[in-house]
Amino acid sequence: MNWTKKSWRNYPIKQQPVYPDEQELNQILNRLEKLPPLVFAGEVRNLQKALTRVSRGEAFLLQGGDCAESFENFGANNIRDMFKMLLQMAIVLTFAGGCPVVKIGRIAGQFAKPRSSDFEELNGVKLPSYRGDIINGFEFDEKARIANPQRMLEAYYQSATTLNLLRGFARGGLADLHEVHRWNLDFLKKNELHKQYIDISEKISQALAFMEACGINTNNTPSLREVAIYTSHEALLLPYEEALTRVDSLSDEIYDCSAHMLWIGERTRALNEAHVHFLSGIKNPMGVKVGPRVSASEIVALSRALNPSNEEGRLNIIIRMGADIIAQRLPEIFKELKKEGLNLIYSIDPMHGNTVKAGNYKTREFDKIMQEVRYFFEIARAEGIYPGGVHLEMTGQDVTECTGGASNITEESLKKRYETQCDPRLNADQALELAFLIADLVKKAKK
Ligand code: PEP
Ligand code: CO
Repeated sequence: MNWTKKSWRNYPIKQQPVYPDEQELNQILNRLEKLPPLVFAGEVRNLQKALTRVSRGEAFLLQGGDCAESFENFGANNIRDMFKMLLQMAIVLTFAGGCPVVKIGRIAGQFAKPRSSDFEELNGVKLPSYRGDIINGFEFDEKARIANPQRMLEAYYQSATTLNLLRGFARGGLADLHEVHRWNLDFLKKNELHKQYIDISEKISQALAFMEACGINTNNTPSLREVAIYTSHEALLLPYEEALTRVDSLSDEIYDCSAHMLWIGERTRALNEAHVHFLSGIKNPMGVKVGPRVSASEIVALSRALNPSNEEGRLNIIIRMGADIIAQRLPEIFKELKKEGLNLIYSIDPMHGNTVKAGNYKTREFDKIMQEVRYFFEIARAEGIYPGGVHLEMTGQDVTECTGGASNITEESLKKRYETQCDPRLNADQALELAFLIADLVKKAKK
């Protein structure tokens, strides 16, 4: 195969912006190409090792974060709260689910969005759609909607500073298991979930005290005070991904150094098109989103293209069919796939197949989200497949974007704090609630 990091340019491609000034675009891409990689290939290999455990049924993958990161909501508190949220959910899954958890954020690069329409219309005015902050502006205004390549640089630097803080949190003390009480976000403290969480933290503190008495402590056991949090995003804007793609000097292999893991979205996964071609040449672990219309043979073909040597821990099939369809479609797909002997990680994205309109808002019902997760675990169990992970859109903030959950957000209350730039996210309460429910399912799946 004649693959280079530029060869995707010879293939049909979907969901790309048109930049009005090609010279400016090329200047910026040249500049990006010279900037340091955001992640190091060694870290990416560590992620693949961790995911190998998932593919063997020995660990569970938790992937989550914003639908779209934004320049405006960028700040230390948001990053800290997302970090705490991931840790909280992971500890619930580890403790209540009895399973090690691989943690991957949709963060530090999740800026480009595929859109169902190229144009948006409001009060009779028609403008190009918003495609994510790395491409154009969210405001409904003609100038903002022009694709601006300078935004790639801003996204790059925002990703670098986000990663910097995440690495600091992961190794500098915030992730220390002794801090488990403090991962709780303040506004959660009032409700029932908080009590369940406190209960887990107390048991962990007791276990730590016991281990300390036996001579196991943070000085001799770094895993008690550090975590590995990896980054991921949809590899949608290929000029940007190309510019961050580098040859690793240790292994001579090619990595996309914009994130540890990349995925291809449901709208851009056609076999002979640019996105699949581009990802087929890089060594990172990767995902492909598959919706209700996918067939088993398409998944087999994607797997042959993206993971030709059938490596473990490399390819994640992210199922997003919707709670009303998954039970009809998935059993037969799993049956077919089981015959193929492919090394695949299967995870469930219960968000993107369950989006509905409520007045002017896009929303998702907590019960539908949970229902799709439940079906996924049940179908996997019936077909003898390991349910390897979840993929969620969530935030560490107290937003009102998805309805339902223990705090019972209604359609009327969506407007209170509807802040997403794209799809509705689980708020911190709902994400923690879901983690407890999933922990139960993971425990059963491990039995
Ligand atoms: C997303 O993950 O935000 C997304 C657009 O997903 P999908 O490709 O599954 O629609
Ligand atoms: Co989304």
